[in-house]
Amino acid sequence: MGHHENAVEKKFAGSLNSAMIADGEANAAQEYANQFGQPGFSDPTRLYITQRYAGYTQENQETWQALYDRQMAYLADHASDTYLGGARAIKLVRDYIPHLEGPLSVNTFLKQLTGWQSKAVPGYLPAKSFFACLARREFPTTIVIRPKESIDYLPEPDIFHDIFGHVPLHADPVFADFLQTYGKAALLTEDPFHTERLARLFWFTVEFGLIKEGGQVKLYGSGLISSPGESIHALKSKDVDRRPFDLERVCDTSFEIDHYQPILYVLDSFTQLRDAMSTYANRLIDEASRRATQAA
Ligand SMILES: [Fe+2]
Repeated sequence: MGHHENAVEKKFAGSLNSAMIADGEANAAQEYANQFGQPGFSDPTRLYITQRYAGYTQENQETWQALYDRQMAYLADHASDTYLGGARAIKLVRDYIPHLEGPLSVNTFLKQLTGWQSKAVPGYLPAKSFFACLARREFPTTIVIRPKESIDYLPEPDIFHDIFGHVPLHADPVFADFLQTYGKAALLTEDPFHTERLARLFWFTVEFGLIKEGGQVKLYGSGLISSPGESIHALKSKDVDRRPFDLERVCDTSFEIDHYQPILYVLDSFTQLRDAMSTYANRLIDEASRRATQAA
């Protein structure tokens, strides 16, 4: 959710390698996703598919390499050390699209570090099914990659956004706990007020978060990490209001998805984020149990 990257006067061109997600297994998983939450449709493992790695074309691999080369060069000095350390720890490399299965897959390394796993999914997941995966320390991962012609413009998540952008942070124990707690809280709440606030929290942290490290503001949100244009804008532009992170204020801030973000929030540490999320999750659990008591 909230994966949209921002397009600035660029149009989508070329076509996705949709054969990767067009078989019976993918169709069944997508149908299950669409009904998730109805009676009999609550098993997140039914949302997952196999990556079928041989389906990637030479062009797909070259697109990954071009994106990796350009973005890593910038991130070396501008991304959070936690992100960069995570990318090394999961053995993210420029030479090939990451594997989700097998001994050299990112999951082999992640498993030892935090127990998180990246699971291939056929496409868009409804919010509750997405949260159910996070609550299990499983990250729903798009496996197709953007076409070469559209290297700067991505209307939907692809594997560069999902793996390069998101997954390195899953190797960090503090961020790993935060994201699971987020998933549990978002899965639990049925109150639209809190659902909206949690969506904003995800947006301003997981997708577009900044963090202060060694006196400098660095990138960690996946939407910034995986977007060459917006990563620079987020750090350099005078048009961005960079505010200190405060959970209540974040949850009260609305966002728009179709242009560069004018407001960003800056963490002091990932511990600050984890602890604020735990406090919020406990509040949601208390409210849910009070409602249950009143109903009884
Ligand atoms: Fe995302």
